[in-house]
Amino acid sequence: MLRGDRIGLRARHEDDIPVLRTELYDDVVNGSRAEGGPWRPITPGTRDPRLFVDDANESSVPFSVVEREGGTLLGTATLWGIDHHSRSAHIGLGLLPAARGKGYGTDVVATLCHYGFVVRGLHRLQIETLADNHGMLRAAERCGFVREGVLRSSAWVLGEFLDEVLLGLLAQDWKPGVKG
Ligand SMILES: CC(C)(COP(=O)(O)OP(=O)(O)OC[C@H]1O[C@@H](n2cnc3c(N)ncnc32)[C@H](O)[C@@H]1OP(=O)(O)O)[C@@H](O)C(=O)NCCC(=O)NCCS
Repeated sequence: MLRGDRIGLRARHEDDIPVLRTELYDDVVNGSRAEGGPWRPITPGTRDPRLFVDDANESSVPFSVVEREGGTLLGTATLWGIDHHSRSAHIGLGLLPAARGKGYGTDVVATLCHYGFVVRGLHRLQIETLADNHGMLRAAERCGFVREGVLRSSAWVLGEFLDEVLLGLLAQDWKPGVKG
C-alpha cells in the first residue's frame, strides 16, 4: 500500500465494488461531471471497467483510497494514460460524498505524485478538471500543479458546455511533502 499523511492507496478489493458503484457511479451529477462522457448505470455483477481492474492494461493503474488508520474506504484514484515514451501520465480521483472537504483529496494528489515520479520515474503529470471544480483545482495547486491552459467549452455536462482547466507538474518542480 502507498501511504500518504492520512490516506492509503491500495489495490481494488471485491468489497469496494458495491460501495463505489452505489455512492460514486450511480450519482448522475458526479458521474456526468467526472467521467468525460454520458452517465450510464452499472449493472450489479457486470465487469464495468470503472470498477473492475484489468491488470493487463499497462497504461492505467487504478487504486482504492482508504483511511490510513482503520482502512475505511474513501474513494478511487487512478494514474492513467501512462506514456512510457514521453514519461507522462494523467491523474484522476473521486472521493465518496462523506469523504469530501476534509483534506483527503490533497493527500491523494500528493501520494499519486509520489507514485508517478518516484515509483514510476515519470517526468510529467497532468490533470484535467472542470473550471468550476474549485476543490480539485485547489488540491492540485497545493501539490505544485500549475494551470497551463483553459480548454474552452470542451465538456458537455448535463445540458451545457463547460470549460476545463489543464494543470501540469514536472518532476523537477515537485517538492515532496510540501503542500502550499
Ligand atoms: C474534488 C475532490 C477530489 C477534492 O478533494 P477533497 O478532499 O474534497 O478536497 P480537500 O479537502 O483536500 O480540499 C482541497 C482544497 O480545496 C478547498 N475546497 C474543497 N472543496 C471545495 C469546494 N467545493 N469549493 C471551494 N473550495 C473547496 C478546500 O478548502 C481546500 O483548500 P485549503 O487547503 O486552502 O483549505 C473531491 O471533492 C471529490 O472527489 N469530488 C467529486 C469527484 C471529483 O470532482 N473528482 C475530480 C474530477 S477531475
